[in-house]
Amino acid sequence: MNYYSQDLVEEIRSRSDIVDVISGYIRLQRKGSNYVGICPFHNDRNPSMSVNQSRQIYHCFSCGAGGDVFKFVMEYENLTFPEALKTLADRAGVELPDREVSPEERKQADLKAQILEVNKLAASYYYYLLRKPAGKLGMDYLTGRGLSAKTMQQFGLGYAGKSGSELYRYLKGKGYSDYLLKESGLFQADEKHGMYDKFWNRVIFPIMDIRSRVIGFGGRVMGDGKPKYLNSPETRAFDKSRNLYGLNLARVSRKSNLILCEGYMDVIAMHQAGFNQAVASLGTAFTQQQSVLLKRYTNEVLLTYDSDDAGVRAAMRAIPILKDAGLTAKVINMEPYKDPDEFIKALGADEFQKRIDQAESSFFFELRILERQYNFREPESKTAFFREVSKKLLEFEAGIERNNYIEAVAERYHLTYQELTRMVSQVGEHLGEIRREDKPLAPLSQRRKKTEDRSLRPQKLLLSWMSSDLKLYRNIVRYVEPEDFTDPFCRRVAELLSVQAGEGKLNPAALFQQFTEEEDQQKLAELLEQSIPSLSGRGGEEKALQETILRVKQNSISWQTEHMDPGDMDKLREIVQKRRDMEKLHISLD
Ligand code: UTP
Ligand code: MN
Repeated sequence: MNYYSQDLVEEIRSRSDIVDVISGYIRLQRKGSNYVGICPFHNDRNPSMSVNQSRQIYHCFSCGAGGDVFKFVMEYENLTFPEALKTLADRAGVELPDREVSPEERKQADLKAQILEVNKLAASYYYYLLRKPAGKLGMDYLTGRGLSAKTMQQFGLGYAGKSGSELYRYLKGKGYSDYLLKESGLFQADEKHGMYDKFWNRVIFPIMDIRSRVIGFGGRVMGDGKPKYLNSPETRAFDKSRNLYGLNLARVSRKSNLILCEGYMDVIAMHQAGFNQAVASLGTAFTQQQSVLLKRYTNEVLLTYDSDDAGVRAAMRAIPILKDAGLTAKVINMEPYKDPDEFIKALGADEFQKRIDQAESSFFFELRILERQYNFREPESKTAFFREVSKKLLEFEAGIERNNYIEAVAERYHLTYQELTRMVSQVGEHLGEIRREDKPLAPLSQRRKKTEDRSLRPQKLLLSWMSSDLKLYRNIVRYVEPEDFTDPFCRRVAELLSVQAGEGKLNPAALFQQFTEEEDQQKLAELLEQSIPSLSGRGGEEKALQETILRVKQNSISWQTEHMDPGDMDKLREIVQKRRDMEKLHISLD
């Protein structure tokens, strides 16, 4: 959603050199043609963020954060786009036109932004109600659960009143349409009551994204009613699988780990006790996107799921996902208590810290749970158990790490190191995964990634070249069309570049405005930041470019072959022709 014209945005960009701006926040050092510094978006001591002056973008090799100058200011200062624009305009001495938002413009504006606006108003409505006499019931409940006023404020806790219609009237009074209010997920409708507050008579937990924008709500009954929590449905602004409760606070905790738990109350109790690195997975199964999000801020995740069966099962499912994202996982034992909230209430923060220090590596946790399914008094069952353990050991890279684990497992189950090693290689051979030279067995996700990379790499590399120089771009598009990019993201970038080139100027940093999802912006930064061999030297570099073009074309043709309708003769002829053309293709870049 842009209230300002693209021209104005570009004007401010051109007056906000990215190296100057970022230098105002962190120390940058020159390194070759780039600048590097310590990334402020994850916990690090090494300079893994690179800032590219010619392309006006930044990218962190470690956590993946990246974007243009606006994105940096938005992320660092926790601002929306218009706010960041204002900040940079002020800095550059550019006056922003004051603009009233007309009803027409409002209609045009993006639904997501409007829902965020409504959510913000609803959150402050609930917030104030909790602190008024009408909110006494909610206040008594939360105080009774041991929360301080400061904690309630920090998490923006609120109360939805008993009437059920006040919030609706309040928002209608501000001019929001029924359509939008429905889309916000805040209301339910029936014939008798019309639109009424979904969360009425509950205490409210606003759910925020990493930029502290309210994306949804959880509402708890004050007592034993059912359901215990109601949550916002998925809306244009709320995607449960991509957010974590409390991460907006935890990400700046500067702790060496993040603690992952199940509930709103757990997160809040932990923060109040000083464990401000706690987050929760919004009451649903932990997802791969959430693990990638966590990896931006830490390398180690401690699990404190409930100690009941459901909690253990949830932890067993979360562990492989965390490991796939490259995170180390450990499990905190809260016995004899059910969850961190209860534990801390009963034994206090110091005891909880001890449990953190004693957290068990996920490998041994998994082993302990696995054990339960076998009966060690029966030889066959026992052997089956060790076979499973061997499989898990094979997931470690062969060498010191695997050997260390073999040693530890052998000791725990009173086997000799040799016995267990023999078993591991037998199982490995049986699985057909161990080659003679004993290649480590990569996690499944990585193996899948490799095949993906084979076609993706050249596409990304080529785009990086195409975006570097207009003359080169025009040369390359003699051979490659946007349709040749089989990866949807790459194709989108190719199309956008072609629009820019059509206007006579390439502006890679401006591409960021075209993508609203964090994930896409990161991909774009990564793509643009790839080191491309400079073409001035000719010879070798030119050959590399030709090779890349050929690989992109080849990939495009095989993709088309694979996806064509077998009865489509015209298409077949076209593909055959393309194949022939390619064999003859002599790419000259002059
Ligand atoms: P818990 O039942 O452990 O809740 O569910 P809790 O956060 O510890 O709350 P208290 O201490 O009992 O008040 C864990 C999470 O599962 C989701 C919520 O996100 C909750 O925080 N949940 C649970 C629901 O969405 N709906 C429910 O009915 C129950
Ligand atoms: Mn609880």
